[in-house]
Amino acid sequence: MASFLRHASLILTIINYSTLVSAALPAYSGTYGVGTIALEVPVADPRNITDTVFKATKQPAFKLDTTLINVYYPIDKNTKSTKPQHPWLSVSADLIAKGLSDSLNGSISPALIEIGFGIFASDLAIPAEVDVNFLPGNESFPVMIFSHGNPTMTDWYSQYYGEMASRGVVIAGVAHRDGSSPATVVKFKNGTSYNVTAFTQDVVSPTMNDTEFHRRQLEMRQAEFIEVTRTLQSIANGDGQAVFSANSRSEGQALAQWKGRIDMNRTIIAGHSFGSNAVLRYLQDSKPLVPAVAALPFDPGKDSGPLPTDVSLPILIPDSEEWSAKPTPFYGSQHFDVVKSIAASSLNKTGAGWFMTLRTTTVHTSLTDVGLIASSFVQFFTNDTSLITLDPKVALLQYVAVSGDFLTYVSNKTITGLLATNVTYPTFKLFPNASVLKTPWEVHVAPTVPGTAASKSGAGRIRLELGELSVWVIMLMYVMFCL
Ligand SMILES: *[C@@H]1O[C@H](CO)[C@@H](O)[C@H](O)[C@H]1NC(C)=O
Ligand SMILES: *[C@@H]1O[C@H](CO)[C@@H](O)[C@H](O)[C@H]1NC(C)=O
Ligand SMILES: *[C@@H]1O[C@H](CO)[C@@H](O)[C@H](O)[C@H]1NC(C)=O
Ligand SMILES: *[C@@H]1O[C@H](CO)[C@@H](O)[C@H](O)[C@H]1NC(C)=O
Ligand SMILES: *[C@@H]1O[C@H](CO)[C@@H](O)[C@H](O)[C@H]1NC(C)=O
Ligand SMILES: *[C@@H]1O[C@H](CO)[C@@H](O)[C@H](O)[C@H]1NC(C)=O
Ligand SMILES: *[C@@H]1O[C@H](CO)[C@@H](O)[C@H](O)[C@H]1NC(C)=O
Ligand SMILES: *[C@@H]1O[C@H](CO)[C@@H](O)[C@H](O)[C@H]1NC(C)=O
Ligand SMILES: *[C@@H]1O[C@H](CO)[C@@H](O)[C@H](O)[C@H]1NC(C)=O
Ligand SMILES: *[C@@H]1O[C@H](CO)[C@@H](O)[C@H](O)[C@H]1NC(C)=O
Ligand SMILES: *[C@@H]1O[C@H](CO)[C@@H](O)[C@H](O)[C@H]1NC(C)=O
Ligand SMILES: *[C@@H]1O[C@H](CO)[C@@H](O)[C@H](O)[C@H]1NC(C)=O
Repeated sequence: MASFLRHASLILTIINYSTLVSAALPAYSGTYGVGTIALEVPVADPRNITDTVFKATKQPAFKLDTTLINVYYPIDKNTKSTKPQHPWLSVSADLIAKGLSDSLNGSISPALIEIGFGIFASDLAIPAEVDVNFLPGNESFPVMIFSHGNPTMTDWYSQYYGEMASRGVVIAGVAHRDGSSPATVVKFKNGTSYNVTAFTQDVVSPTMNDTEFHRRQLEMRQAEFIEVTRTLQSIANGDGQAVFSANSRSEGQALAQWKGRIDMNRTIIAGHSFGSNAVLRYLQDSKPLVPAVAALPFDPGKDSGPLPTDVSLPILIPDSEEWSAKPTPFYGSQHFDVVKSIAASSLNKTGAGWFMTLRTTTVHTSLTDVGLIASSFVQFFTNDTSLITLDPKVALLQYVAVSGDFLTYVSNKTITGLLATNVTYPTFKLFPNASVLKTPWEVHVAPTVPGTAASKSGAGRIRLELGELSVWVIMLMYVMFCL
């Protein structure tokens, strides 16, 4: 029945929204233009991560042959590429649909998902210039390694990546081959390739529970982080030409110019949902091989095993409203309280720990492009129709603003903007009196701000604009509840 309703609502959604779909992803709003390259290089030591194999084929489930990152970087605003933009669906839609269906344990058929992609995303392109020169000059920029959620593709965070790059950050979005991406293709320089689609613990051997399966996926992600760091370090050292030569995606022709332009001493490790679990798992390494100096996990995962709560790097944890609002028992505690203790631990040790929730009805997927393309897509990934984002771009820019303030802190230890706020709500409050809410953020953990410091919030007051789209959302909701 639930599955029927899900199907019915999805079909209705598609019908209702097909005329309201955004034709394109919006341009980026920062100071710089944005370039992008796909970089897939072989690892020096191809290996199987853990002894896990697929039941059907007895082949290793977590095989590390190459790492693939989507790099976004600042360029001159006048630089235009002669190459076509990267498609938003970087892998063929049928393969992504299969993976997504499998990861939802078949509750939505691949055919239906493919219809959705056909309507919403078939011609969608990422508005970054492909394979162009780095921003002229000699300034070096901080690096952000970003780990995607489950089931999600790294490309689906393109707006966040592009917005950050346009503000002077070099982003490396990792395409994980741990069964959490709906689909990814491992490509070798010699032209051969293989597909990795999403899989669950049901199809692997030895038999294991969810937690054990996720633990293995996180091991795979650790190995990928280390390899990605090696690649970035080579580029920073001036070996960009060799990295270009090794890239099976044939992009990065100007990588040799990147020497000294990416500052590995300002590496931030970031992620979303299950990707945040990977970030927190990384922070537990006593001698981490990735030289991160700060961590930025969004919406840490709720069903991906216990979270380590002893953190000794500066950390910013931005939650969506959906994530903070829903009480979730978590290993004998509440998920919210566990996350809060992570930020508190960092605050205690480093003086720089923040935990905050973005209001204005944000959902778990608000950090992704999904809401920008079609609000109905959000529904596809969340049940909670009462929390639909009304203005996805406003929400995304809030995440970008707070991330930018965190980068400023990492660069010169100045606490400014959205971070220069005392704790406002020690525990999340779902519907506080709107007239007392000065910014869309509820701050749960933060250092104390001296009274003299003008807390210049870049946020301003919440504006809920009930545009045409939201009227459609409300109508749709009504139809769905009547079914
Ligand atoms: C990975 O596992 C496969 C299948 O068991 C095996 O053939 C291969 O040699 C292993 N690779 C490495 C590098 O150990
Ligand atoms: C990988 O996926 C593509 C697209 O669905 C398909 O054409 C190709 O045959 C697949 N490759 C393998 C080795 O299964
Ligand atoms: C997926 O579905 C299969 C068969 O319908 C079931 O046996 C299995 O427990 C399900 N797995 C999960 C993780 O829900
Ligand atoms: C960067 O360029 C500026 C202007 O060309 C120059 O003054 C400065 O010394 C350079 N800095 C470094 C570190 O090379
Ligand atoms: C291509 O390269 C991969 C990785 O080195 C190797 O495993 C594969 O056998 C090669 N294929 C061919 C056809 O040479
Ligand atoms: C999952 O399996 C591990 C190892 O067998 C066990 O320690 C753990 O308690 C199990 N977790 C759950 C939730 O069953
Ligand atoms: C990074 O830090 C190391 C060690 O402190 C230092 O030697 C190096 O010059 C720094 N690199 C940059 C680009 O600042
Ligand atoms: C901060 O750390 C100290 C020393 O590790 C510990 O004694 C104290 O309880 C911690 N405070 C909080 C609020 O966690
Ligand atoms: C979605 O709704 C179904 C049925 O009401 C429920 O079993 C499931 O846990 C919900 N999923 C999420 C992500 O809330
Ligand atoms: C810190 O960096 C920010 C952003 O680059 C800049 O606006 C601010 O003036 C810097 N503060 C100090 C003390 O250098
Ligand atoms: C809401 O805020 C207004 C203005 O600050 C105040 O007068 C009113 O008492 C508040 N209401 C509640 C229920 O807190
Ligand atoms: C933050 O809290 C401290 C201690 O309660 C207080 O002294 C200070 O004025 C507050 N800062 C701001 C900007 O409100």
